[in-house]
Amino acid sequence: MEGLMHTIVLDSETDFDGWRAAARALVQNGVPPETIVWTVADRTPELFAPSALPPCNDAPTFAVSAAFIETARMAILHRDPARFALLYRLLWRMRTVPAIMTNPADADVIRTETMAREVRREEHKMHAFVRFREFGTGAATRFVAWFEPTHHIVELAAPFFARRFASMAWSILTPERCAHWNGHALTFTAGATRADASSDDPLEETWRIYYASIFNPARLKVKAMQAEMPKKYWRNLPEASLIDPLIAEAVRTTQAMIAREAPAPRLARQRKDAPMATPARHKPDSLAALRAEAAHCRACPLWKDATQTVFGEGPEHASLMLVGEQPGDKEDLAGKPFVGPAGMMLDRALADAGIERGKVYVTNAVKHFKFVPRGKIRLHQKPNTPEIRACRPWYERELAAIKPALVIAMGATAAQSVLGKITPIGKNRGRVIDLDDATRALVTVHPSYLLRLPDEDARAREYAAFVKDLKLAASVLRKLKAA
Ligand code: URA
Repeated sequence: MEGLMHTIVLDSETDFDGWRAAARALVQNGVPPETIVWTVADRTPELFAPSALPPCNDAPTFAVSAAFIETARMAILHRDPARFALLYRLLWRMRTVPAIMTNPADADVIRTETMAREVRREEHKMHAFVRFREFGTGAATRFVAWFEPTHHIVELAAPFFARRFASMAWSILTPERCAHWNGHALTFTAGATRADASSDDPLEETWRIYYASIFNPARLKVKAMQAEMPKKYWRNLPEASLIDPLIAEAVRTTQAMIAREAPAPRLARQRKDAPMATPARHKPDSLAALRAEAAHCRACPLWKDATQTVFGEGPEHASLMLVGEQPGDKEDLAGKPFVGPAGMMLDRALADAGIERGKVYVTNAVKHFKFVPRGKIRLHQKPNTPEIRACRPWYERELAAIKPALVIAMGATAAQSVLGKITPIGKNRGRVIDLDDATRALVTVHPSYLLRLPDEDARAREYAAFVKDLKLAASVLRKLKAA
């Protein structure tokens, strides 16, 4: 095989499986990297006839690390035309240096990891900066967005929108690839033009209002803002027309902003008391994948002031899931739910009810800390309905991943998220509620309510009632297991 030139033509820019099959055959047959030209069907001039692949068998040749496969899967979505050759060169070198991916100084490893990182970053940008426009009315309503990604990420990023906007029909058009969702299935078609996603619609104004409401001049850092929202994305964002006037306004409004609570975002068409949709039937993701995705959540403005997303924690298949309101000061810093004073109260009550915390999945309805600064203290603020709604897909996806038999909603915010509507605690307390065929819910008070009670008797009485609710949960679980 040596000496011959090989032209490998992949089906598309994102044809990882094609690259993998070809690379396997080539490496098995000892074909060195410098004798291969990698290209893609669409951009291959006809004079480049594809070479037939050498025969390949299933016998393992050498161990290829899972880390390489994962990184390669991302890096192949990069725009750099040299990526196929680079990945093959790495694979080729892995024959003699199996641990090459662990060498942080290797130029090929550095370039591959950089490409994978840039692709992931672009995926997050797409999640954050796609803006849909509404077309049609009633059953014919469709949402269309125009986006110009740098890398080949449409297929990678589209499932996020399918989960987020599961019940709507939408299309994301890009110059190279378009994604479409009809409420049931994702499909992809060839690229489109900006004119195909024409411009004026009622949602433009909504985005502008929303952006103006979340813009926080006290934290204005123009460079950082441009890094997060690079200028190239601005022209497709309705709210971008506000950026210059808002910056000009910033100094004047800063003092006033510090003195008052940030206004709640005004998102489109949300009545405060409107019930939330029943949890969509998401295809379960692993908790690790969910946690990684949630780390970049920008679905509501709370991420801006919080230290980090505080995702749920506990066994992947816990039969009991506890839902609180939102992380507090300590949780925000530690990145873990219920580790501060409310967490200590919860731990004590769980122990008194005979429930092992290590066996419970503990999470919150809202996953960023909401607060107002008061001197050195960060004062907890109750999340509002748009914030609870924006965060609910994470709870739904945790639910789909864990499939607990029982969910305990602690406090009004958790009850709103778990039951999908605003509902008084007292009305539901002690009642086993069916969430679906396989999942029940109980509602109780939030442990921090116990901490706030001023008199000792009331605290002892309410603590006992809280423990009683947890004992009821333990007994419901036992019965469900025995059934
Ligand atoms: N309160 C909550 O609701 N959740 C936490 O994680 C901590 C305090």
